[in-house]
Amino acid sequence: MMNAVMNSLTNSLMNAATNSIKAGENEKIPRHVAVIMDGNGRWAQKRGLPRIAGHQKGASILEGLVEHASARGIQYLSLYAFSTENWKRLSEEVSGLMALFEHYLKTKLDKLKERGGRLRFAGRRDRLSGSLLRALDDFERETQDGTGIQLILCIDYGGRQEIVDAVKKMLAEGADAASVTEETVSRRMYLPDVPDPDLIIRTSGEERLSNFWLWEGAYSELYFTGTLWPDFDNEALDAAIAAYAVRDRRRGGV
Ligand code: FPP
Repeated sequence: MMNAVMNSLTNSLMNAATNSIKAGENEKIPRHVAVIMDGNGRWAQKRGLPRIAGHQKGASILEGLVEHASARGIQYLSLYAFSTENWKRLSEEVSGLMALFEHYLKTKLDKLKERGGRLRFAGRRDRLSGSLLRALDDFERETQDGTGIQLILCIDYGGRQEIVDAVKKMLAEGADAASVTEETVSRRMYLPDVPDPDLIIRTSGEERLSNFWLWEGAYSELYFTGTLWPDFDNEALDAAIAAYAVRDRRRGGV
């Protein structure tokens, strides 16, 4: 009964949000949704499976979710796939994840291409393998003119590292103190043309940012759900969008 009421409420909110998009005021739909895909290990553990099975299941839901996000009017979807700290994991898990990213790029993104979506990469390049970098670069180049949803893969990404890299760029350009402003630093982030995330979702019940979009997420709305990432489905995304739709975003104003 309670579920039926919640579903009907979610549907009404989604319809209202989708209608307002049609009407040209899309404030209720976040333009950029960023996701911390947490809980793959626990999902696998519960089933007596190796951790990589959780990551594989977590990767398998992406195709459908990207499509659903695009249908809902989300223009940018960024995924925290591997952090600068994740190298500390067992080498078996790290190499399994890297192989999974490459496999995903090579086999699972045809629909994104067909529908005019665009792939972007955010993160450090110097510790990734040549073959993964080539797969990322090829996909970015092949989709660079896409006008549909932008799927941003954050691999070997860390918010602090991104800020450090921006500072290094400015020093290399010979910047003086007076030229360091929020605007000039922002322009040296990994993807300066991408709008800041409106909504950051974290699954699995953990409630922290873990070094994700530290600069860009200054005014993001945060949404935490206990759902483990491999169980996150279209309805779960709709619930997050519905929660966002009723937030009052003041960004420091009144
Ligand atoms: C965190 O959950 C998840 C990761 C570090 C990896 C996320 C990667 C995927 C979902 C694979 C698919 C990605 C692409 C782009 C193909 P955890 O393993 O720390 O979970 P736990 O906290 O339950 O152990």
